[in-house]
Amino acid sequence: MIDIDDRLTSFETNQIVREGRGNMPGFESLEGYERSAMVGFIRIRTRKTRI
Ligand code: HEM
Repeated sequence: MIDIDDRLTSFETNQIVREGRGNMPGFESLEGYERSAMVGFIRIRTRKTRI
């Protein structure tokens, strides 16, 4: 997930978590707000500069 913030939009990251990609399974059973919360967490935690 290095530089995921620069490579993917929140929308695209959300789509990967929902539909899966490559060897990663999708998580369609999650509620939209649950996925959004995780995507937000991942994007903030992998950011190089803290805000
Ligand atoms: C809800 C839990 C999970 C979240 C939020 C999540 C999130 C993500 C994200 C955002 C990426 C893209 C990374 C990038 O482009 O740098 C990714 C990739 C990947 N994840 Fe997950 N993941 C989860 C669970 C899993 C599980 C359970 C597995 C394995 C069984 C897995 C295996 C992978 C693999 C293999 C990739 C690379 C996919 C590719 O080939 O493009 N992930 N994950």
